[in-house]
Amino acid sequence: MSITEPTGQIPDTDGTARQWWRQAAVYQIYPRSFADANKDGIGDFVGVLSRVDYLASLNVDAVWFSPFYPSALADGGYDVDDYRDVDPSIGTLADFEAVIAALHGRGIKVIIDIVPNHSSNRHAWFREALASPAGSPARDRYLFRDGKGPGGELPPNDWQAMFGGSAWTRIAEPDGTPGQWYFHMFAPQQPDWNWDNPEVREDFLATLRFWGDRGVDGFRVDVASGLAKDMSEPYPEWERVMHGPMSFLESAEVTFDPGRHPLFDRDELDEIYAGWRQVFNTYDPPLFAVAEAWVTPDRQARYASTDGLGQSFNFDLLSAGWDIGDFRTVIQRNLEFAEANDTTSTWVFSNHDVIRHATRYSQSSGYRPMFDRMTRPDDAAAARGLARARAATLLALALPGSAYLYQGEELGLPEVFDIPADRAQDPSAVIENGVIVAGRDGCRVPLPWTASGEFFGFSDGGAHLPQPKWYGAFSVEAESDDPNSTLTLYREALRLRRKFHTSEHLEWLDLGNNVLAFTRPNGWISVTNFGATPAQLPVGTVVVRTDGRHDRAPLAPDSTAWLVRG
Ligand code: GLC
Repeated sequence: MSITEPTGQIPDTDGTARQWWRQAAVYQIYPRSFADANKDGIGDFVGVLSRVDYLASLNVDAVWFSPFYPSALADGGYDVDDYRDVDPSIGTLADFEAVIAALHGRGIKVIIDIVPNHSSNRHAWFREALASPAGSPARDRYLFRDGKGPGGELPPNDWQAMFGGSAWTRIAEPDGTPGQWYFHMFAPQQPDWNWDNPEVREDFLATLRFWGDRGVDGFRVDVASGLAKDMSEPYPEWERVMHGPMSFLESAEVTFDPGRHPLFDRDELDEIYAGWRQVFNTYDPPLFAVAEAWVTPDRQARYASTDGLGQSFNFDLLSAGWDIGDFRTVIQRNLEFAEANDTTSTWVFSNHDVIRHATRYSQSSGYRPMFDRMTRPDDAAAARGLARARAATLLALALPGSAYLYQGEELGLPEVFDIPADRAQDPSAVIENGVIVAGRDGCRVPLPWTASGEFFGFSDGGAHLPQPKWYGAFSVEAESDDPNSTLTLYREALRLRRKFHTSEHLEWLDLGNNVLAFTRPNGWISVTNFGATPAQLPVGTVVVRTDGRHDRAPLAPDSTAWLVRG
């Protein structure tokens, strides 16, 4: 990678090589659950290296690695001890560099997760803060406050953490006496950084450069909307800060002016990300970033702007049920937003935080992915869920913008339920009667590579989360040569998408009720049947369809077809 002068803007170029991310298919790897080479039951980079051919065979443009940094795993690696190293169970920096080289050798870009809202409580600077007195520069890098009550025995305010319980934890001072409290939006092992502190800002710029110099092409920015905070008194009551279970930001809008919520989406973030952009633009092509920002659509532009990160996740389809009206509204709104802000949209159905979409779509359309519980669907519901998931994915792969795919979805992998309580890892797991009934472990179970074998080819030594007996039927081995498998569908769709995806134009086609159809450049047409009866296909040659047929027969319910015309 060559170095150029910073310009403060994504350079306005031909939009393909330098802005490779605009229409990329990005495959998310959760490293601990992908492939284990050293037989310790935890996936590693040598395991990834052994699967580079597989990644290339998927026809994806980029791989995003969830955190692989040294971590005690209080939150699946999103509790980072050291931002510039690799956890020994996952490998070494040299292994990571070998992975980058191998992926680049196959034309696949590399994006890594960066976790700037909080570190882990084992980070050297947090330990220094604990060993230093109240009011010291070391404490100022985090959010320490005195407690309330006569002896400071009460937390500074009533704010709650995302994983439950108070957002404040009290520390013992260096002399052993009960002392100050620190703020953590997530688990107590994840103290929040103080982004008003210049050392914190500088240190993150150094981290961005560290990885940029090692060849990574971009970052997925964890909790991107959370870094700037107003922790000054008087503190608003928690009820005001976060009320209503669906979207704290939507409800926050009611009680705070835009950009003035104390914890999320504050205007000061612009300045922070402008600094990041300057670093990004010292690389050629410029580094890229996508923000994890659960914000209202009108605020997304601030993350996705050309003097900010570049792109921002839209989780709207992930949150939408199987409903034609919802799909059309979400697509239209996000395409308009992208066009108005010189960015591209992002389409996501699954990731490491939500129930896999093959299982989600077995539910009624009112199901809310981040909040509602689910139990294992019966076989008929599971089949419907998988059909809809395949149809939804094929539809989204035809849309302008980037598609973010989560490992295992290309196998149609369902969510794993009933993991024994003693195997729970997720801090948000809910346990009842000895099994996990809610949480994120069920979408993080190690991948099945082979149809049989103790760990289905993931490892020869173990699986850090138990794989169910039925897993082999969804393995890469079982699906590779099956023309109707989900794996074959993804491979073929991603291959065709690369060929067709030229401009970012879309035009809706009216094919009647319950059919969502649109055309793209090169005569590319996508048709999805949301109805209960088969739908006639428009004129054109069928190139791929999700209902197991390959001809021009009417399209089955819960299915998508691609055609080309001309
Ligand atoms: C993000 C991650 C999630 C993690 C949280 C705290 O939302 O996607 O997995 O628990 O941030 O880092």
